[in-house]
Amino acid sequence: MPRINDNYLKLEAGYLFPEIGRRVAAFAESNPEAKLIKLGIGDVTEPLPEACRTAMIRAVNALGKRDSFHGYGPEQGYAWLREAIAENDFAARGCDIDASEIFVSDGSKCDSGNILDILAAGTANRFAVCDPVYPVYVDTNVMAGNTGEAAGGRYAGLVYLPMTAANSFTPAIPDAPVDVVYLCYPNNPTGAVASRETLTQWVDWAKANNTLILFDAAYHAFITDPDIPHSIYEIPGARDCAIEFRSFSKNAGFTGTRCALTVVPKGLTGKDADGNDVALHGLWNRRQSTKFNGVSYIVQRGAEAVYSEEGKAQVAELIAFYLENARLIREALTACGMEVHGGVNAPYVWIKTPAGVSSWDFFDTLINECHVVGTPGSGFGAAGEGYFRISAFNSRENVEEAMKRIAKLKA
Ligand code: MLT
Repeated sequence: MPRINDNYLKLEAGYLFPEIGRRVAAFAESNPEAKLIKLGIGDVTEPLPEACRTAMIRAVNALGKRDSFHGYGPEQGYAWLREAIAENDFAARGCDIDASEIFVSDGSKCDSGNILDILAAGTANRFAVCDPVYPVYVDTNVMAGNTGEAAGGRYAGLVYLPMTAANSFTPAIPDAPVDVVYLCYPNNPTGAVASRETLTQWVDWAKANNTLILFDAAYHAFITDPDIPHSIYEIPGARDCAIEFRSFSKNAGFTGTRCALTVVPKGLTGKDADGNDVALHGLWNRRQSTKFNGVSYIVQRGAEAVYSEEGKAQVAELIAFYLENARLIREALTACGMEVHGGVNAPYVWIKTPAGVSSWDFFDTLINECHVVGTPGSGFGAAGEGYFRISAFNSRENVEEAMKRIAKLKA
């Protein structure tokens, strides 16, 4: 009889998005005539850019001929894609990142969880997360045995950094030692961004305290303000203290086709049990080579096309489309008298629920009375209680219709 990983039994309820899916399915079953509009999970709705589709079709055809066939690719990703990323995502923004420091993968969700494989589990490291937070960071720490039990929506052993309206959704830097901190900017779920000054404070603190920053930049393409950094590596010193996760999901619509990347700078180190410095790049390379066989050739060719002239223009159009949705959502909800945050440099709008109404109660009201699905803020952490996330990822027609329905709710 196998012994299970008891840490899984500490996990509270289901993973947030399947839990919402379960409630939505139950609603749809008892209300088959309702035309539901889903502004919950941040899943893209618009077609893949033509440049990506054309490149993928060409790649499929190449696989149909013996002399251009590809089997297993490099576990780290094809050099041509890593070089395009290094040049366009990093060198173009003044970041010193070499193609050999980039690992192509099938998702930032996977990588931000898998990274724990190369860090000591249990109580050896102290982890800090923002609250509210993308639930993957917390749940993967629970699974790895890095936490105690949950109470009041928080796990013992984790350091929580509240992000609230009171601190303008800019969490205070921990005053106690922390070994690893997760930061996500533009932020999921609040839609907040970090200024250069804020990121500089994090990097300076991380370097002074030997803290590793796990920086999730999955939503960087939504930054419209030229003063906001897209990458942690725009901050001097970040190469010595940060790993960055990025994705093709939200900029180029690859949520279904799957392609992402993780940057592990070569000089970045952790300590072994004897206190010796060990390069994290080598450990991550070893982990990926053993447990991952790379993203398909077809998808990597599609991702490479994001950096072509047509690809860049088409991605810019997609981003502008979703940001216009976000603007419509912000304006409509503000006109309803709601307190509205985010949605300017991010695809998520973070609203305060009406006084005395919990996040899940607001979810129920919206689905029952407006047939609109959003995400309860409390699903992202205790400090998200009393908030609600509306995603801008949907068609224009659906966004406009959803806002009309919510306006009627208010009236
Ligand atoms: C979200 O809705 O927060 C995102 O879709 C999550 C994800 O990308 O995994």
